[in-house]
Amino acid sequence: MAYQTLNIEIDDYVALIRLNRPEALNALNSQLLSELSDALQEADKNERVRCIVLTGSEKAFAAGADIKEMADKTGVEAYMDDLFGDQIDRITATRKPIIAAVAGYALGGGCELAMACDFIICADNAKFGQPEVNLGVIAGIGGTQRLTRAIGKSKSMDMHLTGRFMEAAEAERAGLVSRVVPAAKLIPEVMAVARKIAEKSQIAILTAKECVNRSFETTLREGILFERRVFQGLFATEDQKEGMHAFLEKREPQFRDR
Ligand code: CAA
Repeated sequence: MAYQTLNIEIDDYVALIRLNRPEALNALNSQLLSELSDALQEADKNERVRCIVLTGSEKAFAAGADIKEMADKTGVEAYMDDLFGDQIDRITATRKPIIAAVAGYALGGGCELAMACDFIICADNAKFGQPEVNLGVIAGIGGTQRLTRAIGKSKSMDMHLTGRFMEAAEAERAGLVSRVVPAAKLIPEVMAVARKIAEKSQIAILTAKECVNRSFETTLREGILFERRVFQGLFATEDQKEGMHAFLEKREPQFRDR
């Protein structure tokens, strides 16, 4: 499908999705969010895609929800349209792994979109923030919840209450991002990580993602039980036999997603 606010390339089983609204620093308007949720659903179904990379431009991953589009909405409209609810739920329902490759600004909904991905690798020029308080609102795409789980209450409060920006080095120290790389190498480095993920057994990858995500939704005891059952279930796959025998035979595994 052709999209107006996204560019998509598929190579080596990795879909690289670029947000493409340069005139508004990739601000998330309803068209972009709707196209993104469609594109992710398509990627989820596409057998040529085993890992997804979501990125923006060198200046901005995304500078937040589109303020022009929102400014004059009434409370009734925000509620009746379930502002951002359906679109972000469709995005987080993606089963295949999504890596956010963040350069430049990831603010407000942009930071929240990055956090809705499975992990974030950022460039050394990245700036994260939840500056919605400066607009008389608060985060509305999961920021108060996901940022708090990612970096803890104290730093999350600091970000949400002051609206300050967090640089890449601090984001790495705080655990918001998994790696920081030089800006010029962001896409090649993230694509290499994505290709490594794409080479593995897809059953193991999808279940690992599901189990980690379960940790945010349930108690420790239930989460551990869920993981244990999934782990045990993987012994019913050919990929488990292949993976373990390849190790014992000192060769590379040939996973077949069976
Ligand atoms: N929505 C709509 N347009 C935006 C935008 C946004 N969130 N962020 C930037 N733009 C537009 C600007 O209006 C400007 O357009 P024009 O050239 O037509 O005037 C263009 O992008 C370039 O932006 P700037 O001239 O402001 O660029 P800058 O380099 O001087 O500043 C910035 C960059 C610091 C990111 C600044 O643009 C900024 O502060 N943006 C808003 C950040 C923000 O408040 N985000 C939160 C939005 S609310 C939200 O996201 C709610 C939620 O949780 C769901």
